[in-house]
Formats: sequence, structure tokens, C-alpha cells
Amino acid sequence: MSVIRSMQKEDLPSVAGLEEQCFTVPWPENLLSQCLDSPLDQVWVLEEEGGIAGYCNLRIVAGEGELMRIAVHPAKRGRGYARELMEELEKHASENGAQSLSLEVRASNLPAIRLYKSYGYEIKAVRKRYYTHPAEDAYIMQHRCN
Ligand SMILES: CC(C)(COP(=O)(O)OP(=O)(O)OC[C@H]1O[C@@H](n2cnc3c(N)ncnc32)[C@H](O)[C@@H]1OP(=O)(O)O)[C@@H](O)C(=O)NCCC(=O)NCCS
Repeated sequence: MSVIRSMQKEDLPSVAGLEEQCFTVPWPENLLSQCLDSPLDQVWVLEEEGGIAGYCNLRIVAGEGELMRIAVHPAKRGRGYARELMEELEKHASENGAQSLSLEVRASNLPAIRLYKSYGYEIKAVRKRYYTHPAEDAYIMQHRCN
């Protein structure tokens, strides 16, 4: 059974490990730690069998929400965990005054793009060669909140 809860200080090493496994430019522990101290950020972890299988990070600034990160452990994908995290994030954004939600995603990241489209996000802009390791365009995706 999986449970979603807010990230705690004790989770930082596990979440940093998850970042290493999921991204070519992972967020280090000190950056994740700053999210815990920021009133603008909300970070959730998805816990399963005593371990952290996924996490996501939402930032709300002046009514504009940004999905900063979402990741599921490679061995735990395809079980609906990203969807569980998205449900929490979308609900929290609506309930906390976000008028819209946006995000950046690698143009080749089809699993993530498909996930985002299923929540109503649309591609609004392209940032050419925005990413490094490897160099790649970013899609800026956005949707309005209810
Ligand atoms: C993107 C990611 C979070 C999806 O996690 P997941 O737990 O496997 O996703 P879910 O099982 O909840 O699937 C939800 C939806 O995502 C999409 N999706 C997930 N895996 C997919 C795949 N391999 N191919 C196409 N679509 C996929 C589908 O729309 C799926 O819905 P469906 O099952 O009804 O078709 C995961 O692949 C990941 O961690 N990737 C690396 C990190 C990353 O790229 N994060 C996003 C950029 S910040």
C-alpha cells in the first residue's frame, strides 16, 4: 500500500538518491533542504513498503503554481504512483489559490508529457536548447486551475 505525505528532513537522503536515479542533472540534498525551509514550496513523498518510491514538488508564487519536480523510482513505474502524486499536487494548488499551473519538460520526455496532458496541461512555448546533459529543448506547459 502506498501513502503520500509531506517530505520531512529525515527523508532528504532518500529523495536525493531518487533524484540521482531519475535525472541526469539531479537536485542535491542541500537544494532539497531549501525547499523544506521555503514557505513557497510544498514537497510530497510517496512511501511504499517503508521506502520512498516517488516524490513531487510544487511552488506557488503570487497565485502562479509551478510543478518543479516529479519522479518515481525506475523500478516502481507504471503503477499509477505519478498519478497519485499529481492528484495531491493539483488538489493542493487549487485549494491554495493557484490560478494556473505550469512546468518545464524535456521535449523527448514522452511519459511525462503524456501524464501532464492527461491533467489538461498544454504546450504553450518552446525554450530552445534549454536543458544540458544532453542539450535539449524544453516545452513550457500550463493549465488553468478551477
Ligand atoms: C514521468 C514519471 C514520473 C511517470 O511515473 P509513473 O509512476 O510511471 O506514472 P504512472 O504509472 O502514474 O502513469 C501515469 C500516466 O503517465 C503516462 N505514462 C507513464 N509512463 C509512460 C510511458 N512509459 N509511456 C507513455 N506514457 C506514460 C501515462 O499517461 C500514464 O497514464 P495511463 O497509465 O493511464 O496511460 C516517471 O516516468 C519518472 O519518474 N520519470 C523520470 C523523471 C521525470 O522525467 N520526471 C518528469 C520531469 S520533471
